Amino acid sequence: MMHLMTSLFPIGSHLAGWRHPDSWPRTTMQLDVFIEMAKLAERGKFDMLFLADGNAVRAMDDEVMFVANTNTDRPSTYDPLMIFAAISQHTKHIGLFATAVTTYDEPYLLARRFGSLDHLSHGRACWNIVTGNYEGDAVNFGRSTHVPRAERYERADEFVTVCKGLWDSWAEDAFLEDKATGRFLDPAKVQRLDHVGKHFSVQGPLNVARLPQGYPVLSAAGQSEPGRELAAKHADLIFSIALTKEDAQAFYADLKSRVARHGRNPAHTRILPGLTVYTGETASEADELYEELQSLIPPEVGVRSLSKFCRADLSGYDIDGPLPDLSAEVLGMTSYRAAIDKLAKERKLTIRELYQMIIPSAGHVVFKGSYRQVADEMEDWFRSGACDGFNVGMPVLPRSLETFVDLVIPELQRRGLFREEYPGTTLRDTLGLPVPERRVRVG
Ligand SMILES: Cc1cc2nc3c(=O)[nH]c(=O)nc-3n(C[C@H](O)[C@H](O)[C@H](O)COP(=O)(O)O)c2cc1C
Repeated sequence: MMHLMTSLFPIGSHLAGWRHPDSWPRTTMQLDVFIEMAKLAERGKFDMLFLADGNAVRAMDDEVMFVANTNTDRPSTYDPLMIFAAISQHTKHIGLFATAVTTYDEPYLLARRFGSLDHLSHGRACWNIVTGNYEGDAVNFGRSTHVPRAERYERADEFVTVCKGLWDSWAEDAFLEDKATGRFLDPAKVQRLDHVGKHFSVQGPLNVARLPQGYPVLSAAGQSEPGRELAAKHADLIFSIALTKEDAQAFYADLKSRVARHGRNPAHTRILPGLTVYTGETASEADELYEELQSLIPPEVGVRSLSKFCRADLSGYDIDGPLPDLSAEVLGMTSYRAAIDKLAKERKLTIRELYQMIIPSAGHVVFKGSYRQVADEMEDWFRSGACDGFNVGMPVLPRSLETFVDLVIPELQRRGLFREEYPGTTLRDTLGLPVPERRVRVG
């Protein structure tokens, strides 16, 4: 069965989505809009709602981009765990997939927050483990520069290992609340962690009872070598960035074999590439929306936006010329940059052609056409070892999500590719993933 997620980010995935007449009039800190969107996605039986995150107001030194706003800068945004705690009270089944950065947090605090969300939602929490993709966030945490990648990933590995140990603190049946005997809990059913490592020293136990899912579903998004290794070691769910089916297949095969090398079962991981969908009853409806949105991107915003994905300033280059050399090492995120560089070289694209291609997809692949054509392409990727489902970008909200739920999902259901009902109560049930066994300390 295919797995589908989408971002709970009401400005839409297209850079100009929020300007379109079919978008919500206001979205900034509008709880009602977030709730309405979550309910709509749950009506479509989506596996999960996703929230990206970071810890800064970005792009302030670039007025063109700052004023235009992009869906990766997020100048005003709810804390993902807080908004998902609220959403959990208005939904029943949909997974709540929150990004949290390991570089500037403490495992005890984060294990507790995800534990709380898993309880509040009756087993629907998911953690996107990231090390921070924007170097500028560092200045909010007593640093002048970003932590180097190798150190970030080393800390992330230890961070996640500590969290898992903390989630193993209590047995499922530790809290007796036996009024007759006066025994609130069974002290034999709790354990300390006593972790002492390079980055953390954590005694435990966690002050949250065993989670409904054992651990929240764990996810990782990094595409670099250490990013892939972290994912292979810990993640149930892995993002991929692929602009072609062949790239998606290569990533899929690579990650599944890495998972096996870490002694884990590859059948218990789900790999989801990003995808942006432009669709309607007919292909011309999809084309019309696409063209309307493209016409709302001024070229200077286009070039700056591409610069951001490539992590290189492209403003001094000929807009109708090729991309410059992007091989220099950067501290932050490289995954989109590598995919774009490859595409530009393979198809000999100019800067203008590239931004026109990248912006509608926010760095991912685009499927554009009637709902049947979109379902054909999704089916093709799914059946050819490219993915286990998709992270679906919605260009204009709520319009694109409504169209997807009313047209694409029923088409996928008719083809037997997507669920008609949620199979159980937890996100692990929805994703077909086992509950991790509690590791009891010996001695
Ligand atoms: C779909 C997707 C969503 C991501 N969301 C975030 C995010 O919200 N915050 C973040 O810091 N990094 C995010 N990333 C970036 C990765 O987590 C990764 O840590 C980063 O790209 C740096 O490592 P890399 O060179 O391995 O890619 C995302 C990546 C992908 C593919």
